[in-house]
Amino acid sequence: MSRIVLANDQSIAEAAEHIAQGDIVVLPTETVYGLGADATSDEAVQKIFDAKERPAVNPLIIHVANREDAFLYAQENEIARKLSEIFWPGPLTLILKKREGAGISTLVTAGLNTIAVRMPEHKVMNQAIKQSGKPIAAPSANKSGEPSATTPQDVAQSLGDKVDMILADGKCDIGLESTVLDLSGDVPTILRPGAIKKEDLEAYLDVVEVDEGHQEKPKSPGQLLKHYAPSLPVRLNAVDVKKGEALLAFGPIKFMGIEGGGAAKDLPEEQCLNLSEQGDLEEAAQNLFHMLRALDKPDYNAIAVMNIPNENIGVAINERLRRAARH
Ligand code: TXA
Ligand code: MG
Repeated sequence: MSRIVLANDQSIAEAAEHIAQGDIVVLPTETVYGLGADATSDEAVQKIFDAKERPAVNPLIIHVANREDAFLYAQENEIARKLSEIFWPGPLTLILKKREGAGISTLVTAGLNTIAVRMPEHKVMNQAIKQSGKPIAAPSANKSGEPSATTPQDVAQSLGDKVDMILADGKCDIGLESTVLDLSGDVPTILRPGAIKKEDLEAYLDVVEVDEGHQEKPKSPGQLLKHYAPSLPVRLNAVDVKKGEALLAFGPIKFMGIEGGGAAKDLPEEQCLNLSEQGDLEEAAQNLFHMLRALDKPDYNAIAVMNIPNENIGVAINERLRRAARH
């Protein structure tokens, strides 16, 4: 099993040392836990793909601790500069044209001429990046195809002995992966919705498009692949609970029934988890992946999920849920 080590100056220094030496380490970020490696080393980056069993066609995000460093690896443009000043550090990943010869492993970009960069807002992560002296490639710390992991225990459950060290800093603040914004084409396009919303970006840009990922050749290779899916079927917009289902609730469930008789509020505690009893979307986002994982047990035949309002971070929650339900 992997070692879960609480983040402090000493363990951060140890994690940074592992990264510098070409090993993979799990690091906390404000969005989800990341599986980090030195982005300049083919060998180190290959370890990420191996541990996650991630298809080589799916490129990785480079994490930097200083705004300027992003533009060592990605070509700067006016919009990117402006957005980086406004939203970094924070949960926004920018896709830009790659700078050739900047030393990033070609495995990171999966053969594309673009590169994904982000400056996280997490003290531990940023300290680890600085101390390693490397740009850190880090996908979400989960087996490819599974929901992302937002607690150290979920990381350990998903990656098992594939990784030596999990640098732990509790539950991730946001709980959903960063917004991915493609600035490499003519029109800024959201490839993955997240905590930084379309409206937030529209305050600074004339037009923002959203790539729903339905077309033959989506811009983000990750959109092609099975994603965020628990092993159980997921049933959306549930207004009742069918026999054998677990319930992922949102808001009050006082009046929700179970098919064939009974009330959802009387389900065993572990069979009914509530994303947010108060109906708070940010709390729901923070709980989403952890609760999906917790309900994903052979004891049930499906996970029924109540309707989540499609506003604010609810847009990103619903996108993840649609993917979870598609498989
Ligand atoms: O919040 C996050 O972004 C987390 C934390 C750890 O930073 N990371 C994360 O990485 O979610 P990952 O690898 O699970 O998701 C990255 C997504 C994938 O869908 C990938 O296809 C897309 O970003 N991506 C990466 N590079 C790209 C590129 N050059 N062009 C288009 N999409 C790209
Ligand atoms: Mg991922």
